[in-house]
Amino acid sequence: MNQSTSNRQPPGADARRGFLAKLAAIACGGIATLTPLAAGLWAFLDPLGRRSAAARFVPVAELAAIPPDGVPRRFPVVTDRKDAWTGYAAEPVGAVWLRREPGSDVVQALSATCPHAGCSVEMAAGGTCFRCPCHNSEFTFGGSIVEPSPSPRSMDALDCRVGKDGAVAVQWQAFLAGIADKVAKR
Ligand code: FES
Repeated sequence: MNQSTSNRQPPGADARRGFLAKLAAIACGGIATLTPLAAGLWAFLDPLGRRSAAARFVPVAELAAIPPDGVPRRFPVVTDRKDAWTGYAAEPVGAVWLRREPGSDVVQALSATCPHAGCSVEMAAGGTCFRCPCHNSEFTFGGSIVEPSPSPRSMDALDCRVGKDGAVAVQWQAFLAGIADKVAKR
């Protein structure tokens, strides 16, 4: 058999190769298009993701741990969270300042996350107001800005409730930093 005879293709082989190449290109394009669509649809339908985004009441303290003396006490917020596709059980997600006016059972709750850029707001030296160590924003115990401060808004108040058993729970929510309006993170 000579060289030209061994390289000869059966009739229609080129057309079949072309057809298969087009089919493969269409399949790849379809996968590239549908994958993000499917991910978006899953995120939209995923009930765990929606639960993690919604504000919920998280127990943070006992009423007895917040003396009615007008002085705020700091408590960590520990709850489940979900990051992309992974759920984490009972992790610290932030902190709150809780306070009771003298003689009152009403608990006021402020997020300890600074509205300026997200640092943790602490008690100022001397214990008469809050102070953020990152850029020196200061706030009253009620959460109002003490001017001059770089924070664009007051500390973020959280809904709070006290159960019959004395358990104090806050409606934990994170808010966007650096803007004047209090807008919940999604
Ligand atoms: S992050 Fe608190 S003052 Fe800037």
